[in-house]
Amino acid sequence: SILEMEVEQINKGKYEHYMQKEIHEQPESLTTSMRGRLIRGGSSKKKSVLLGGLKDHLKTIRRSRRIVFIGCGTSYNAALAARPILEELSDIPVMMEIASDLLDRQAPVYRDDTIIFVSQSGETADTLNALEYARENGALCVGITNTVGSAIARNTHCGVHINAGSEIGVASTKAYTSQIVVLAMVALAIGADTVSTKQRREGIIESLLNLPGKIREVLKLDEQMKDLARSLISEQSLVMFGRGYNYATALEGALKVKEVALMHSEGILAGEMKHGLLALVDENLPIVVITTRDQCFSKQQSVIQQLKAKRSTDSYVYRRRCSNLPLQLLAYHLTVLRGYNVDQPRNLAKSVTTE
Ligand code: AGP
Repeated sequence: SILEMEVEQINKGKYEHYMQKEIHEQPESLTTSMRGRLIRGGSSKKKSVLLGGLKDHLKTIRRSRRIVFIGCGTSYNAALAARPILEELSDIPVMMEIASDLLDRQAPVYRDDTIIFVSQSGETADTLNALEYARENGALCVGITNTVGSAIARNTHCGVHINAGSEIGVASTKAYTSQIVVLAMVALAIGADTVSTKQRREGIIESLLNLPGKIREVLKLDEQMKDLARSLISEQSLVMFGRGYNYATALEGALKVKEVALMHSEGILAGEMKHGLLALVDENLPIVVITTRDQCFSKQQSVIQQLKAKRSTDSYVYRRRCSNLPLQLLAYHLTVLRGYNVDQPRNLAKSVTTE
């Protein structure tokens, strides 16, 4: 009805689509996700993290034999992005599981496992079934969701709400970044009893607090990403290479391009390139190489060199800290330019409540 359309326009504010609005509101949604949880203490300059929903369970988590992340789609990718920091700060092995695959394998789950369920909606059937399975096997179940009172929030032993605000676009954008930030805070909380990592933890807290400002800068790439989208408009396929922290960025960037822009896209661990994908590289295949100034920087430079040797045209390279955001912008513009429905891609539902 006309009324519904008007309400929708009010909800979208100055934006044309929810996905666009949700991409651009990330400086605010991330600030909300951190509010009251990261404390940059007064005179002592002490920095600490406080997660109310987790604090009574931290001792148990620190004693667990392993930590297992479970999720689907973007939520899985967010967990993958947070994995290195959790491994580093907890010194506990961190395993990754796609919810449906864990169930297909009926994989071993132990009483001394901590299992972290990541889900924006908190209602995804596969994740919920994996939760039931993990509970039956006696694991400690932690929920990371964006929906208070959701099935996953209710049925886990403890957890953290990501507080990203409601996400309407089927493609998850602001929930992804808030999930990563919350999981980084979980890692900080688990590692908080280790004296030797104190400086490192304080550095991470400082960077997290500065993140909304950085994101505001990265959002200025909007026009540039639109130009890039324009150049890719009639491509069949788009390959994204990442490694280290940016392996997840590559998978998530490719997922966005697939689900909204309806273009085949693949995220590849750059270290795996020469074990297969390199065969596809020719003059024409569009490739995004994600590199940030981290420990993988020089390895990614040599990937670029190897790719350049196979073609005369340049690959697209961005050196930014917040590497996922430009790809969200790219997927958004690519979708609009190709004339597809950004907020409601065909065949997909915001929350997948069937197996
Ligand atoms: C994300 O853009 C997708 N719509 C999809 O992969 C989604 O992340 C997945 O279905 C998991 O949903 P959840 O986070 O609500 O559990």
